[in-house]
Amino acid sequence: MFKKILKWFFGIVVLAVAGLWLFWPSGYAINGPLLDFMTGKQLDAPSESVLKARFKLPEDFRIGVFASGINNVRSIAVTETGDIVAASMRPGEIILLHRDEDGDGASDGRTVLASGLGHPHGLALFGGYLYIGETEQIVRGSFDAEARTLGELEAVFTGMPAGGNHTTRTLGFGPDDMLYVTVGSSCNACFEKQPYRASMLRMNPDGTGAETFATGLRNSVGFDWNPATGGLYATDNGRDLLGNDTPHCELNLLEQGADYGWPYAYDDRQPDPEFGPGNEGKVQASRPLVHGFGAHRAPLGLRFFGLDNAPQGFEGAALAALHGSWNRSELAGYKVVSLHFGADGGVEERDFLTGFELDEDVIGRPVEMAFGPDGGIYISDDYSGSIYKVGWGDINVPGFAEKIKQAIGPLAKFDAVALFNMTEKGAGVFNDNSCAACHDPAAAADGVQVKILEGLTARYDIDGLTALFAAPPGPMPPFELDKADSEALAVYLLSSFGEK
Ligand code: HEC
Repeated sequence: MFKKILKWFFGIVVLAVAGLWLFWPSGYAINGPLLDFMTGKQLDAPSESVLKARFKLPEDFRIGVFASGINNVRSIAVTETGDIVAASMRPGEIILLHRDEDGDGASDGRTVLASGLGHPHGLALFGGYLYIGETEQIVRGSFDAEARTLGELEAVFTGMPAGGNHTTRTLGFGPDDMLYVTVGSSCNACFEKQPYRASMLRMNPDGTGAETFATGLRNSVGFDWNPATGGLYATDNGRDLLGNDTPHCELNLLEQGADYGWPYAYDDRQPDPEFGPGNEGKVQASRPLVHGFGAHRAPLGLRFFGLDNAPQGFEGAALAALHGSWNRSELAGYKVVSLHFGADGGVEERDFLTGFELDEDVIGRPVEMAFGPDGGIYISDDYSGSIYKVGWGDINVPGFAEKIKQAIGPLAKFDAVALFNMTEKGAGVFNDNSCAACHDPAAAADGVQVKILEGLTARYDIDGLTALFAAPPGPMPPFELDKADSEALAVYLLSSFGEK
C-alpha cells in the first residue's frame, strides 16, 4: 500500500515538473540563488585571490574581507568607537565586530550582543540606545560602545505585520530625531489588508506617536537623507512576474503623505496591468521615481557620503547595494553602484563594486553600507555572510590615522578622512600662493634665500598659523586667505613639516 502511494506521488511530481517546464509563462523566469536564499544556505567568504581576480572598484580603491561567518548579515552600523554592529538575520543575532586595531584590515574579534531575535534586519544607534528592527516589533537596549555591552531589550513598537513576502524592517533616525521604519508588502502585487504594509512609518524615539509617513512602497529596504539637501531618498524593489525588463526598481524622493504607486502604478505613473485599470485616479496621483535601477536589480541599502568624508569624485553622492535578480532570465544587479545627483535633479548611476556575479556565477549579494571613522567603507553580503572593507587613497592604509595622530598633536582633533581631505586642499593653497618659491629648495629661483619649514608642531597650532598668515612677518607677501583655506593650509603645513 505504502509503495503504491509513493509511486503515485512520484508520478505526480514528474508530471508537474514536466508541465511547468513546458508551459512556464514568460515573465516567470527563475534564475539566481533563490533556493539558497529560502533555505538560508551560506557560501564561504571569497578568498584573497578570488577577491583580487573578480572584484572591480574605481581606481585608487581596494577591498578586503573585514569579517566573515556572520550568517545572513543584513544591516550594519558603525559605533562611536569604530566597531561595527551587524544584524545576523538567521539565526537572529546581533553581533559586534571589534575595530581593526592591529592594522591587518580585519576585525579583531566579536561579541554577540543579542540572540533569539525574530529576523532582525534594521539597526540604528540613537540617544545611547541600539534599536533593532525585528519582523513584528522594534526593540531597543542601552548600548555602551566603550564597554561593548547591550542592556536588556525593551519593545518600543509592537504590532507590525507578520508573515507574507517581506519580513525585513529597516530603521533610521532622521535629522528631526524621529525614528523612521519601512515595512514591505505582504505579496508581490495585491491590495493590502494589513495595516502598515508597503509604507514608511515615523514615530518618536520611544515608539509613541507612530504615523504613516509615505505609502505605495512595495519594499523599500534602504533609505537615507542627503546631507546637502535634507531630502529623504529610498530604494524600492519593483514587482515581479512582468518579464525581464518591467518595471524598474526605484529610487524615490520621499515626502510626507505621498503615495509612490504600488500596486496601482510603477515607473512614472505607468498603470500596473493587473491593478491599474479602474484606479486611474490613483495612478495619476502617484509620485514618479527619481531614478530607475532597471528591473529586478533589487536595490537594498542606500547610504549618502557625509559632507566631509567623501572620496574625491564622490562629493554629494550615495552608494546603493543591488542585491541581484531571481525573476530574470539573465542575472542583473549583484553590485554596489554610486549615485551622482545633478543640479537638474537627474541621477547618474555608476558601477562602484562589481564581481559578486560573473558569467552567471554568484559568490555574494550586497545588502548595506556604512562608513567608518577611518574612512573605510563597510559593505555587508548576506549570501557569503561577510563584511568587506573598502579603502581609498591613503585612507585606511593600515596605521595611516594613528601615524599622523601620534606625530602631530594639534591635528588629533581631526579624523583620518578630514585630515586627508584638508591636507589635499592645503597643498593646493600652498601651490596657488607660490609658497614653494621661498620654502622649497627644489622650487626656489637662484639667489632666493630659502627658509626651510620644519618642526612646526613644536611652535604652532592651527590658530597660531592662522594668525601668522593674517600678518606674515619679514619678506613674506600678504596673503588673501579665507578661513577654510587658512585652516586647510595650516593642516597641510603641520602634517608635512610638523617634525624636526
Ligand atoms: C618671498 C618669500 C616667501 C614667500 C612667498 C612665503 N614665505 Fe613663508 N617665510 C619666508 C621667510 C623669509 C620666513 C622667515 C621669516 C622670519 O623668520 O622672520 C617665512 C616664514 C614662514 C613660516 C614660519 C616658519 C617658522 O619656522 O616659524 C611659515 C609657516 C611660512 N613662512 C609659511 C608660508 C606659506 C604658507 C607661504 C605661502 C602662502 C609662504 N610662507 C610664502 C618667506 C616667504
